[in-house]
Amino acid sequence: MQQVTLARRAYFSAGRRLWHPGWSEERNREAFGKLASPHGHDYVLDVFYGGGIDDDNGMIVNITELKPVIAQAVQQLAGRFLDCEVDYFSTRRPTVENIVNFLWSQLPQHMGTGYLTRLCLQETNRVWVNKTKDAMQVTRSYEFAAAHRLHAPQLSAEQNQELYDKCNNLYGHGHNYGLEVTVRGEPDTETGSIIPFAELDRIVEAEVFEHYDHKHLNEDCPEFTAIIPTSENLARVIFDRLQTRLQEAGYQLSKIGLHETQKNYFEVEA
Ligand code: NI
Repeated sequence: MQQVTLARRAYFSAGRRLWHPGWSEERNREAFGKLASPHGHDYVLDVFYGGGIDDDNGMIVNITELKPVIAQAVQQLAGRFLDCEVDYFSTRRPTVENIVNFLWSQLPQHMGTGYLTRLCLQETNRVWVNKTKDAMQVTRSYEFAAAHRLHAPQLSAEQNQELYDKCNNLYGHGHNYGLEVTVRGEPDTETGSIIPFAELDRIVEAEVFEHYDHKHLNEDCPEFTAIIPTSENLARVIFDRLQTRLQEAGYQLSKIGLHETQKNYFEVEA
């Protein structure tokens, strides 16, 4: 039977601090940065059930039955300070990864003809986590600005103009690129994170910002003398840089997404 997936969204707010009770203040501040201080987030939760359509009622899961089930899971967190008020987080850091694991444990694996296939929890517009039965992935988004000119040296000026149009402009043009970096893994038992954000930020700074932020890709970046700095090529080069560096640090890059404009998006997967 063909599988159809249904998604239902829920919103909640919760307070927390990321703090390991067995560590010194200094170590906590170093590991968690500003997140070691009490703060809160407005979370957005998407719940996915997939299954075959029930011939009798035309549904996978009756949303009228699903609504209170999701509400019951979310209400255990909503409006609370997670570290102090939710038992689950007395021994675990209330990171977005662990919050997803908690919600997964509270939702029925099977409802109607459907199975819980995925949860997506967005913590801010820069951070979200996807969990399926087999894997968890955290995504963090960044922004940088760069100039480029699309020009193929083997073609004539007229052919380049025809092929690339405005993007062939002699002195180049610029974009605010949006970069989404997705790392796959299980949350560490001590930090509660697949990868500490401070560490991912350092890697993105060294491998992306230092090379490309406020640079002219054709003029300043040797890797784009032999290849044309289209966003396809830029995405591939960024993926390779991040994958190598993350692998060395013991992490698994799952994919990157590159927004060239609000309308153009490129993705490279492992
Ligand atoms: Ni462009």
